Amino acid sequence: MIVLGIETTCDETAAAVVMRDDDPGHPGPGRILSNVVRSQNDAHAAFGGVVPEIAARAHVEVLDGIVAQAMADAGLGFDALDGVAAAAGPGLIGGVIVGLTTAKAIALVHGLPLVAVNHLEAHALTARLTDGLAFPYCLFLVSGGHTQIVAVTGVGAYERLGTTMDDAVGEAFDKTAKLLGLGYPGGPEVERAAQAGDPRRFALPRPMQGRPQPDFSLSGLKTALRLEAERIAPLSERDVSDLCASFQQAVTDTVADRLAAGLALFARRYGRATALVAAGGVAANQALRAALRGVAERAGIALAVPPPALCTDNGAMIAWAGAERLAHGLTDGLDVAPRARWPLGEVRGVHILEGQPA
Ligand code: KG4
Ligand code: ZN
Repeated sequence: MIVLGIETTCDETAAAVVMRDDDPGHPGPGRILSNVVRSQNDAHAAFGGVVPEIAARAHVEVLDGIVAQAMADAGLGFDALDGVAAAAGPGLIGGVIVGLTTAKAIALVHGLPLVAVNHLEAHALTARLTDGLAFPYCLFLVSGGHTQIVAVTGVGAYERLGTTMDDAVGEAFDKTAKLLGLGYPGGPEVERAAQAGDPRRFALPRPMQGRPQPDFSLSGLKTALRLEAERIAPLSERDVSDLCASFQQAVTDTVADRLAAGLALFARRYGRATALVAAGGVAANQALRAALRGVAERAGIALAVPPPALCTDNGAMIAWAGAERLAHGLTDGLDVAPRARWPLGEVRGVHILEGQPA
């Protein structure tokens, strides 16, 4: 089963072709035949964040070429495809419309089934593309827009166990970078600065620590950091490094605590998880990865973290999710609507219990 996937929900324009075994239940890892990603970072850097109108315009300008490139890299014509998938949300609506409309046009012209993929679902299923992971597993989705702990029990079967009450973890990194005069996107900049810093110099809070419900809150941490920065201003390079290191330590401690609560809740609901899976741009952070290894080890389960290029937004994850849905007959009509908001719990699908065929 060969599927073209299109991703345009934020500031990456991406298209990819992915192959999946026909077995609906246990497909094994997928094969990425092509994966083209064009980031718009430069277009938004001057504004310190993604500007929706600029993003939508940029998607329109480059998407046709990106799709053509993905098909050429795969060495395939559209007639070789079994389906076409696009992220239909959640995300910036202008971009979502561009990607979904393009996928509809391809589906219509070439008589292919269309799959409207939830962007979060695509992150959730990536570990099956890379590791051939079986259900059920516990997903930690940690990006600029999302911080969620999700039970993944089948294709289209997701329960959100915990989420952030305010900022996403990536957003907190980006705001910290902005506050300290570092570049955009902020996460990698904060991580770099933190390497030279002292994580114990500033006593920052660990919000929600010890609570059984695995939710997050990061705005208090952000405020505490700002107050410390204002207190010692003007900031030397050393101060910036120490602030970044202290911030990153507070975040990783918080994540470790919240995820332990999440895994405990998962075990109560679904029994043993096949793995803890991390996805989203922030999963590229090395300190965070180390914390995740500790959490998984203490829970006695494996940790699966897709390679960085598949953790950040890409077309391969959309194509793979499309193939997974297609294998279960979960296709969509050409009238399917793009959605700015689309919680994982509202995705339709099939529960696949461990050890059972679909
Ligand atoms: O998944 P992603 O590419 O886009 C979405 O938000 O959907 O994630 C981007 C986020 C940004 O907030 C960025 O600052 C953060 O991931 N990020 C990092 C690192 N690399 C990217 N945060 C912390 N450390 C990093 N190394
Ligand atoms: Zn994403």
